[in-house]
Amino acid sequence: MAGDLRQLVYISDASYGLSKPDIESILASSRRNNTEANVSGMLLYSSGVFIQALEGAPATIEGLYKKISDDRRHENVDTVSDRLVSDRNFAGWAMGFVERTPEDVGSRIGIAGLLDRKATLAALSGNEELATNMLRDFAENLY
Ligand SMILES: Cc1cc2nc3c(=O)[nH]c(=O)nc-3n(C[C@H](O)[C@H](O)[C@H](O)COP(=O)(O)O)c2cc1C
Repeated sequence: MAGDLRQLVYISDASYGLSKPDIESILASSRRNNTEANVSGMLLYSSGVFIQALEGAPATIEGLYKKISDDRRHENVDTVSDRLVSDRNFAGWAMGFVERTPEDVGSRIGIAGLLDRKATLAALSGNEELATNMLRDFAENLY
């Protein structure tokens, strides 16, 4: 039922020096916590930029997004889309992970590259389905 599920997508910059093992540790705790909290989603990493979709009960997403925003392992957290949905786009993924080049991500959303935050936000904001469709395509290797 619409209203029971909140789906939020944000973009952020990995903190300086963040390593592969750091990302693996983020994913391990995410998968453990999200399974427990009935949260699903997808994390994209692209040359120091994260794009993450989170979906679950509205109050759960509220608390989780606060916690994630305060995490010092990334910064410049910008919300790309935040809406109530009737179905999950990432059911079955406690937290999926994909890695792509900034050029791949840029070309999927119609901009030159992901490292221009202003252009990225302009492309993704106000087009609620673009970010989630992109993450789905990457996760399913359709793009
Ligand atoms: C880019 C990024 C994505 C994250 N995604 C999640 C997530 O989906 N779920 C989650 O519980 N924690 C996530 N975290 C980690 C939280 O900020 C926090 O460290 C963690 O939930 C604490 O869990 P713990 O108390 O089990 O160690 C993320 C952190 C970063 C930097």
